[in-house]
Amino acid sequence: MRILVIGGTQFIGRHIVEAALAAGDEVTCFHRGRTNPGLFPEASHLIGDRDQDLSALDERAWDATIDTSAYVPRQVRALAAALGGRGGQYVHISSVSAYALTKDPGGTEDLPLAELDDPETEKVNAHTYGGLKALCERAAVEAFGGGDAEKVTIVRPTYVAGPYDHTYRFTWWVERVAQGGSVLAPGPQANPFQVIDVRDVAAFVLLLAHEWSGGAFHAVNPAPPFSFGSFLETVVATVGPAGTELVWVDSDWLAARGINSRELPLWEGTAEGRNASALDPSRANARGLVARPLAETVMQLHAAEAVSPTPSAGIGLDPDRETRLLSEWVAR
Ligand SMILES: NC(=O)c1ccc[n+]([C@@H]2O[C@H](COP(=O)([O-])OP(=O)(O)OC[C@H]3O[C@@H](n4cnc5c(N)ncnc54)[C@H](OP(=O)(O)O)[C@@H]3O)[C@@H](O)[C@H]2O)c1
Repeated sequence: MRILVIGGTQFIGRHIVEAALAAGDEVTCFHRGRTNPGLFPEASHLIGDRDQDLSALDERAWDATIDTSAYVPRQVRALAAALGGRGGQYVHISSVSAYALTKDPGGTEDLPLAELDDPETEKVNAHTYGGLKALCERAAVEAFGGGDAEKVTIVRPTYVAGPYDHTYRFTWWVERVAQGGSVLAPGPQANPFQVIDVRDVAAFVLLLAHEWSGGAFHAVNPAPPFSFGSFLETVVATVGPAGTELVWVDSDWLAARGINSRELPLWEGTAEGRNASALDPSRANARGLVARPLAETVMQLHAAEAVSPTPSAGIGLDPDRETRLLSEWVAR
């Protein structure tokens, strides 16, 4: 199959390209040539900035286009116009952040999407990211599906973990727990949580592209109920040396000391109402998503980090600060 990936050289896209090449697909990557240049010599590379000039896409045709790098709806509309029907099945990598806030666990793909106060904004930040992803989805349905949501493929992953994860969020926890000792664990322990292995997302995306399966699908794991506490306990059980202990600390207490989710990644802080971490994976599972056990991701990632450590990207709690906070918490 001829597959065009808009992006494909960083993390999720990189694994999609790897999987497509392994499956014998003819892969073309469109990107600016900045991120990991030289990767995938066996694929074709078309160089361009999707915000400026898509002319490198002229003339050729593909059976499926997998878009991993759209953050604002203009990018989706411009891509559709540039491809002019030559892109085949359009597969859009969205996010569970595209959902409006909900308190109900077990939500399906029919949950309402986020709305932005200013739908014209192109500023992508923690406040606008989800609403912009929702607008990208709507633009995809209009521009590639002629208004029919079943004609385009939308994949909404939860937190994604695994090799080459430049965000370092999940990886930081694995490497921190692997050092052992008393680990500051941000509450509430019972907060719903989901995380999926990047290779499972990639395999699912490729399956949907190969089968031209339209519609929206979560890419989430495990099925609810699962919690942040269960996540950290799994990491401890998998890579924590003997004597590793989780010290659960109140989230308001941490927030009052200025701790944020850069220092304690994947922690949703005191954010209320967000329950996009307890979504129902049934539709995706029925369509072919197979998610490996979390412990397998943790173990393999820790082994990979020993060989080729990922840059921390400024993520994670400084060890001295962790020690001081733990002393203060215990003595309070
Ligand atoms: N990480 C998570 O936990 C998570 C969770 C849910 C959803 N997502 C979604 O997953 C996607 C992220 O995937 P990824 O970064 O891992 O994908 P990727 O395809 O591996 O990497 C991003 C690619 O986009 C290219 N790119 C960036 N800006 C470009 C531009 N202006 N024009 C052309 N190419 C450009 C980059 O190459 P150059 O720099 O060389 O151009 C790179 O190849 C996003 O849509 C995100 O919303 C991520």
